[in-house]
Amino acid sequence: MHSITEQIKTALTANNAVLVAHYYVSAELQTLAEETGGIVSDSLEMARFGQNCDADTIVVAGVKFMGETAKILSPEKTVLMLDKNATCSLDLDCPIEEFSKFCDQHPDRTVVVYANTSAEVKARADWVVTSGSALKVVEYLKEQGKKILWAPDKHLGNYVQQETGADMLIWQGSCVVHERFKADALAILKKHHPQACVLVHPESPQSVVDLADVVGSTTVLINAVRDRDEQTFIVATDNGIFHKMREMAPHKSLIEAPTAGQGAHCESCAHCEWMAMNTLDNCLSSLNTGNNEILIDPSVNQKAKESIQKLLNFTA
Ligand code: 13P
Ligand code: SF4
Repeated sequence: MHSITEQIKTALTANNAVLVAHYYVSAELQTLAEETGGIVSDSLEMARFGQNCDADTIVVAGVKFMGETAKILSPEKTVLMLDKNATCSLDLDCPIEEFSKFCDQHPDRTVVVYANTSAEVKARADWVVTSGSALKVVEYLKEQGKKILWAPDKHLGNYVQQETGADMLIWQGSCVVHERFKADALAILKKHHPQACVLVHPESPQSVVDLADVVGSTTVLINAVRDRDEQTFIVATDNGIFHKMREMAPHKSLIEAPTAGQGAHCESCAHCEWMAMNTLDNCLSSLNTGNNEILIDPSVNQKAKESIQKLLNFTA
């Protein structure tokens, strides 16, 4: 019997399929994606890669909004998730009915939504952004004199508002993983490692962002570990990212930012439960059965595509 990775490789070839993985999934899946001509990246590059590749099937190791984005951009391709129940608290925090009403109440505002949303919410938006592109897009809209309705991440929204000074009305969603990082405990950890560089994903609370040396998308944080002179990094994002950071800079020390401290729910919970639903077993099973296929209503798909395509053109 061949190993599970060998079986997945065979199934990928047989289906002319490509594996597109996020930095937060397991090391095995990340390695497999790279070994088989797929990609491991942030959500912006996952979207771009899926659209540009000539595979018939895109297998998305990540969460539902990433699979939906791939399908929206390539409706002619088959898009498979490893587990369709792998969602995101930001997506769950922004149901389309309520969001649509909110947009209707503010027709004077340009609707900008984070990629971590459903296809329907993207279809209701004027622009879709990712953490790697939000600042540039909002800066551009501000220069055009636009007022913005932002959803769903309040922390990323507050950060973008503070950095750009744009007029933003902000929906109150949050990421359950990043919200657990604790500023008080991080300040104490920094005192123990005065030379360390602090890396923070902007889905984290403002008090944590305020302690950062680098704030950015997963790709920006990984590149900081590779490129900066410091030897020690305190990392406030999902710990799945450590795999790529270690690969890029094996001699550097990485420390998880604390999720414990006053008001914490757990000792160290810096891992997304939905990202953790992606396994080698369900990768093979999705490829063999075609289960977990993403399907989107064509009219929703078309509108959502316009909003995402704007972003891809803007960041090209
Ligand atoms: P990135 O676009 O920075 O990869 O972020 C996606 C995400 O879900 C972070 O929690
Ligand atoms: Fe969503 Fe947070 Fe998980 Fe990213 S880490 S997929 S934002 S719940």
